[in-house]
Amino acid sequence: MIVYINGKYLEEDNANVNANDRGYLLADGAYEGFRIYNGKIFKLKEHKNRFQRSLDELKISYTIENEIQEIYENLFAKNNYTNKDELFFYMQITRGVAPRDHAFPKQEMTVGVYAFLSQKKINLDAYNNGVKVCTVPDNRWARCDIKCISLIANCLAKQTALDKGFADGLFVHDGVITEGTATNVCFIKDGVLYTHGATNRILSGVTRNFVLDLCRENDIKVIEFPMTVDKLSSIDEAFLTGTTGEITPIIQIDDISIGNGEVGVVTKELQGKYREYLDTHFY
Ligand SMILES: Cc1ncc(COP(=O)(O)O)c(C=O)c1O
Repeated sequence: MIVYINGKYLEEDNANVNANDRGYLLADGAYEGFRIYNGKIFKLKEHKNRFQRSLDELKISYTIENEIQEIYENLFAKNNYTNKDELFFYMQITRGVAPRDHAFPKQEMTVGVYAFLSQKKINLDAYNNGVKVCTVPDNRWARCDIKCISLIANCLAKQTALDKGFADGLFVHDGVITEGTATNVCFIKDGVLYTHGATNRILSGVTRNFVLDLCRENDIKVIEFPMTVDKLSSIDEAFLTGTTGEITPIIQIDDISIGNGEVGVVTKELQGKYREYLDTHFY
């Protein structure tokens, strides 16, 4: 696979970073993950705005212009993809190369940019039949709104869930469910959708925000208020939202069966509206 690294398009095995890149030493950088439908980037503007915001919050002085689209198009062509391929586009920007020090370098920095475009199919079993997830302690830092490359707490939580036989973990902070390890989470009770507000405790998901728009357009009431673990046994439906999985139904959390243990009706309705939107705008 041909990838992009600091101005060059190279075979991935030849794409090396300087060992003093602050992304490598200190996880000092931000990233975005984009979904491609029929050769077009889904919600480019929203991803670009969030990417810029992450960089600004990390105080990385860099203004994103048209490079997301440009690098994407070049990787698409150089890897001979076609519109039929189900693709995921990843891009990260680090503060750049400097001798290791917590303090930001004083000199002007050239950021480090890495991007790849790979095949990634949606997990149809999870999409159609739902997943079982478990709760995990949310021991991340208090700036989960920044999409930064430091993801070890998310990796640990995901692995903990997998090791216990679950598909994923739901982070719990002070009894409140915040989000998944790489997804947001929504709950349905009496036809109303509840999800954690877009605070510092969650990443404001592009998919989450799109699903909330779908709800508003389809008269599904939305309350941005967090679900607590003690209420889980009384909810009707739950689902994860994220770039790759779109809307993934949840049928069990820890040992609690959600609704009747099958994919809920509102969840299915929203999956349908999501697909309608894609059919209209991308195909
Ligand atoms: C922690 C976290 N929450 C939520 C999301 C979902 O965001 P999006 O819908 O923009 O993919 C992600 C995506 O990577 C994530 O890492």
